[in-house]
Amino acid sequence: MTAALDNEVGQMQFIDTHCHIIAGVDDGAANPAESLEMGRIAAGDGINTIVATPHVVEGYYLGEDRKVRLSELRRPFLGSGLEINLVPGAEVPMSLCASADEALLQSLSIGGRYLLMETSEASLDQLAKSIYHVKLSGLYPVLAHPERFSFARDQCRHGGSA
Ligand SMILES: [Fe+2]
Repeated sequence: MTAALDNEVGQMQFIDTHCHIIAGVDDGAANPAESLEMGRIAAGDGINTIVATPHVVEGYYLGEDRKVRLSELRRPFLGSGLEINLVPGAEVPMSLCASADEALLQSLSIGGRYLLMETSEASLDQLAKSIYHVKLSGLYPVLAHPERFSFARDQCRHGGSA
């Protein structure tokens, strides 16, 4: 998932808004070398900012140390000469989006403004409740992998009449 912006001199700047680049916390990068390789590939594609969005999994990884892990990741990036800005974020499961307190959601947000929500197999009702709760927490919801949202997938399969 990428977003594009123009910088002050009119050059296109790309931001990868969803990347499992932090090693060892989810099914993304397996080790720091793989993280660095992901960074090299991104830089080759013209991306200059990556939002590190590891899966947050209740009972396994709540992302409390994301900023520490990101600091550790910045060192090899700087040493390699890669000009990639690494920004903390998280991919937050729907259940947590619907129930977590504002402080936790803020801590998992992207810049205190956006929350990347994992849609996967949620129902439309769960999605609506989660979006409502996220909005009440002062954040803009962003849907990760909307193509995996089962309700939308079924709608497409049935021509919008399911
Ligand atoms: Fe993801």
